[in-house]
Amino acid sequence: AGSLGQTHWDCWLSPMNSLITDHFVCFRLDVQFSALNFPKESREGFARVNVSFPTLSSVSVCVRVQWNPEWNEVSTIFSYAAPVFTNEFQLRGQVDVQGRILLALIIHGKHLPYKASFHNDGAWHHICVTWLRSSGHWAIYVDGDRKDMGSGTDSSRNIYGDGIFILGQDQDSFGGNFTEPFFGNITDLNVWNMSLETRHVHALNACSPITQEVLFSWNLADLSSHPMVKEVQVLLFCPGKITFCIF
Ligand SMILES: *[C@@H]1O[C@H](CO)[C@@H](O)[C@H](O)[C@H]1NC(C)=O
Ligand SMILES: *[C@@H]1O[C@H](CO)[C@@H](O)[C@H](O)[C@H]1NC(C)=O
Ligand SMILES: *[C@@H]1O[C@H](CO)[C@@H](O)[C@H](O)[C@H]1NC(C)=O
Ligand SMILES: *[C@@H]1O[C@H](CO)[C@@H](O)[C@H](O)[C@H]1NC(C)=O
Repeated sequence: AGSLGQTHWDCWLSPMNSLITDHFVCFRLDVQFSALNFPKESREGFARVNVSFPTLSSVSVCVRVQWNPEWNEVSTIFSYAAPVFTNEFQLRGQVDVQGRILLALIIHGKHLPYKASFHNDGAWHHICVTWLRSSGHWAIYVDGDRKDMGSGTDSSRNIYGDGIFILGQDQDSFGGNFTEPFFGNITDLNVWNMSLETRHVHALNACSPITQEVLFSWNLADLSSHPMVKEVQVLLFCPGKITFCIF
């Protein structure tokens, strides 16, 4: 579904194994992605997704992030603002006292709990969020696992269309007054006009394509970035991809 980067065989010398006393060389499939780097040197960095959004009765957003481990304030992964309502749909994170990043969704202005988490280890993590109006259900997945879910969101209306989707900044007004920046790297952002199921999220986490039609598929040509935001090439380990060893 357009989310796959270039594939690379990554080779490394394995540590000594307790059962097999000889060294052996292992190979694993890593995938190269074009990513965006949001440097801590500037609070201005953002990227705008150039897509025209319809009204959405359901939505899923998946993204890979590499958090800057030295930043512990509220960080906005993405914010979607509509002309008539600013805090329409948003994903943010913050470090807790135990050194985890806790994630929270904002849907129709309602701030859901900070609960789904991953270790603040500087590694890449795969995050998916879903919302379905008909049931009011939402979910947050991290590295393929559903870490938090709930219902009781406002089901009286769809997510408004014609909004502005910004990576790396909260929008305090429609398309402006950026606050609560994200620092680190972001890649593989994809948006669907449906609520993905766990099996879809598993596949995406493992860098496998899914057949569901995307509203936005990661492509730097469809992003306008602040000059401080730089394109970087990154190699990501895809869990579940073939690993083999030569003795
Ligand atoms: C956004 O996309 C539209 C339609 O594909 C295109 O005409 C326009 O030039 C793009 N704008 C930017 C800033 O890339
Ligand atoms: C945007 O920020 C400026 C400066 O802080 C403030 O004066 C203005 O009221 C803000 N606008 C909105 C719409 O929040
Ligand atoms: C982002 O990626 C670049 C290029 O791979 C790397 O040098 C940098 O350390 C990463 N930044 C963070 C905060 O992880
Ligand atoms: C999602 O978008 C596709 C393509 O525009 C459309 O065919 C489909 O009906 C949409 N699904 C929903 C749930 O709106």
